[in-house]
Amino acid sequence: MDSRPIGVFDSGLGGLTVINAMSKTMPGESFIYVGDTARVPYGGKNVDTIRTYGRQIVNFLQSQDVKAIIVACGTVSSNVMESLNEEFDLPIIDVVRPGIEHCIQICEENNKKKIGVIATETTVKSGFFQKMFKEKNPSIEIDVRACPLFVPLIEEGWVKNIVLSRIAEAYLRDWQEDPIDFLILGCTHYPLLSPILQSILKDTVLLDMAVAAVETTHQYLAENDILNESPTILKDFYVSGDLEKFNEMSQQVTGQAIQAKKVFWD
Ligand code: DGL
Repeated sequence: MDSRPIGVFDSGLGGLTVINAMSKTMPGESFIYVGDTARVPYGGKNVDTIRTYGRQIVNFLQSQDVKAIIVACGTVSSNVMESLNEEFDLPIIDVVRPGIEHCIQICEENNKKKIGVIATETTVKSGFFQKMFKEKNPSIEIDVRACPLFVPLIEEGWVKNIVLSRIAEAYLRDWQEDPIDFLILGCTHYPLLSPILQSILKDTVLLDMAVAAVETTHQYLAENDILNESPTILKDFYVSGDLEKFNEMSQQVTGQAIQAKKVFWD
């Protein structure tokens, strides 16, 4: 057993969808969450910048003595995992790969072949989804699209605003006319829009990557005998931007009162 916390990070609120999945699948684990809200959104930034941000956050989490890290950000996960794994000597689990593997499995089980992916611009440009599907099952048709306006609006708390619904309709219109079987929410912020997305794509199943990533992490901890068996559970939140704004918004996402602390980058 290992009672140390798991580190979880994202550019902002999106990784809280991973925290929500963790509280269902492994409620006994402690965690330290980092939301890099001073620098959100990551999704339009270049790969070198994303790498620098990822390294700073992993460094911070390592200094907090975490036993493993979940990269709860699709943009970091699809662009810089190789360098993070090379540089740091602790298990770092990305949010994208398990989501893709889960999607391929249910496509094969249900004989479905039409997949849509929505993600940030930098994720789409990475070609990671396209490459993984081609490698693992080239018969699946995959259409990957960027939705760059979603993250800033979610961070502003505009999730229920009519403006967001109109933007979502514009992004998803082609799939209304030519339906897909599954839509992978390739950015961890997007499950916060599930009701809107589902109301537009009524016959498409939405796939939240957080669920598969948390299951993969749970399996890893169990196989390595490092689950937390201590009754003490720590839940810490750090943000680089405005504390009050994060506390208010994160309560809406998790349903829990959160008192975040400030983190600074060197
Ligand atoms: N949640 C991040 C992701 O999964 C959002 C990226 C952003 O900040 O634009 O990609």
